Formats: sequence, C-alpha cells, structure tokens
Amino acid sequence: MKFFIDTANLEHIKEAESLGILDGVTTNPTLMAKEGIKGQNNILKHYVTICEMVNGPVSAEVISTDFDGMVAEGNNLAALHPNIVVKVPMIKDGIKAIKYFTDNGIKTNCTLVFSAAQAILAAKAGATMVSPFIGRIDDGNWDGVQLIEQIVHIYGIYGFPTEVLAASIRSSLHIVKCAEAGADIATCPLSSILGLFKHPLTDIGLEQFLADYKKVNG
Ligand code: E4P
Repeated sequence: MKFFIDTANLEHIKEAESLGILDGVTTNPTLMAKEGIKGQNNILKHYVTICEMVNGPVSAEVISTDFDGMVAEGNNLAALHPNIVVKVPMIKDGIKAIKYFTDNGIKTNCTLVFSAAQAILAAKAGATMVSPFIGRIDDGNWDGVQLIEQIVHIYGIYGFPTEVLAASIRSSLHIVKCAEAGADIATCPLSSILGLFKHPLTDIGLEQFLADYKKVNG
C-alpha cells in the first residue's frame, strides 16, 4: 500500500518525506486555506513547491463545477509539474472532465466519493485514483472501511486499473484496516503516519537492551 500525506503543510510534508516511506501528497481547498495559502498565484506556487519536495503524485483540486471550467483549470494545473494529479469532484461534469483528462493523458483523482456506485462511475471514466472519504462515512455512523473493501472487490472483478485511495483517514488504525481491505493508497495526516510507530513493548524492549549493553560495556 502506498502512503500519501494529506496536507498542504510544508513542515509535515518534509517530516514524512524524511522517513523515506512517502509516495505522494493530497491537498484540497480546505487544507490550502488552513495553511493560509490564498490567491491563485500563491496557490499554484505552493503546488509547485510541494511537487519539488516529493517524488510522487501530488493531487491539486479544481474549484470549478462546470465541465469547461474544470478542463481549463485542470489543464493549467497539469502543466505546472509532471507530479500533478488533477483532483475532480464526483459530480456529472466532474465525470465528463475525468473522461476528457483520461483521453488527454492527464492523471486524475476523483474526490468526494461516498458510495460504490460513485466509485464505478469514476473507474468507467478512467480516473487514475478514486478517493472514498472513510472518516466522514464513519462520522455518519456507517462503515468507511467496508466501502473500501466493496470498491476493491468490484474493481478486482472487472480489472479496473483505477487505484483505490482511502481518504479522510482519522487514525493509525484506519491505515491498518485500509491495508487489510486492500486499498492501493492511504492518504493520511502526519499524526496517523507517526502513530504507526507506537508500541509500548518496543519502548520497554529498547530501554532494556540499551541498559543491558551499558551494564556490560559501561
Ligand atoms: C483527501 O484527498 C481528502 O480531501 C481528505 O482526506 C478529506 O479529509 P477530511 O474528511 O479529514 O476533511
């Protein structure tokens, strides 16, 4: 399973990248706003900065909701850097735009996906990645991981090449559950990635090993 970091925070990206296990980045307009990135020029510059930091796909989201607007924005984003993946919302014009981008060799991430039905549409349009939002599904008392399993199963039956990108991850356990469910990618906040390291027996065991070494070697 590939690890993407779900942030526009450069320090977080740098820290995840330094671990040597980062495969890509996802952003969205909320994450960009959280970092205080505003104005079209600054937003585009920020995408380029991220692309130069990480050797892998960087999802940049369109804000248009009509076909022509999405195509114009997406072409512009894709021209910024070869790492850019155009993130397009799961709406009718979004699916048409994904088909256009697919036909024109531009990679896409179909976002705001909450059902298997929507994931089938994304795959039919040729999306490179599909983003089911598992945390938001859990928030509504449904099972987000179960949706990942369902989509992986359906894509497997038909051999759809669209990668299942588990998004809206809220915890390290989510990452493990998505790995079990067969997600191709998990996009996670830095805290959930770092949480994967944690086990008290590792800390206790290491402390003991170092103490025993010191006893004999001084
Ligand atoms: C990433 O591609 C999504 O935009 C993001 O994971 C959504 O996460 P949230 O539900 O925590 O806002």
